[in-house]
Amino acid sequence: MNLIESSDYNDLSRKAANVISAQVILKPDCVLGLATGSTPIGTYRQLIEWYNKGDIDFSKVTTVNLDEYCGLSPDNSQSYRYFMNHNLFRHINIDIKNTYVPNGLAKDYEEECRRYDNLISKLGGIDLQLLGIGHNGHIGFNEPDVSFEKTTHIVHLDESTIQANARFFETIDEVPKKAITMGIKSIMQAKKVLLIAGGPDKKGIIERALHGPVTPDVPASILQFHPDLTVVYCFE
Ligand code: PGA
Repeated sequence: MNLIESSDYNDLSRKAANVISAQVILKPDCVLGLATGSTPIGTYRQLIEWYNKGDIDFSKVTTVNLDEYCGLSPDNSQSYRYFMNHNLFRHINIDIKNTYVPNGLAKDYEEECRRYDNLISKLGGIDLQLLGIGHNGHIGFNEPDVSFEKTTHIVHLDESTIQANARFFETIDEVPKKAITMGIKSIMQAKKVLLIAGGPDKKGIIERALHGPVTPDVPASILQFHPDLTVVYCFE
């Protein structure tokens, strides 16, 4: 496990973007696993800046996102597809056809879960998976549970997750209660994992996840078993 402390959010974002940028330079046709949430926004902003300077080329990159809310369309401003398009994809030279986010409007969610797992295997797996962490230790929307859910699945969001995400919606009632998320197996099979955590409120859960017992009660704790985990953090 490679723990990298940063001095502030900008520093965290630059360091995380450096890791992603190195991946794209070393393997231009890599598969990046991407994440949404507040934490990666600065990382994406930095990547866009370097792209504009001509330092990174995304033309051969493929991306797979961790999760999507059930019931939100891609043009809903709270959907994760919308988030990715607006915070990254439309600002870089990635081919939008090579960007994948689970379909929150799928008619048959079980089928969509299978499709997503097959897609990841067909792509040859994920070279680098970027992750944020929830206050309850979730990664993607893998919420605390009695067992680790391996494959892409539908989750009922934790009350704490709904509360945390309510800040993005007009009212808490608008926060979807269900989501579709990549499972622990796909995340663990990524060749490299980059976990980013910023702010004093993430200190406790990062300590539990990285130094506490490995338990599905803290889904991120499984990352202790990942052979190539980098954690970039700042608790200021
Ligand atoms: P945050 O979310 O980056 O908005 O804190 C992280 C997560 O819930 O995975």
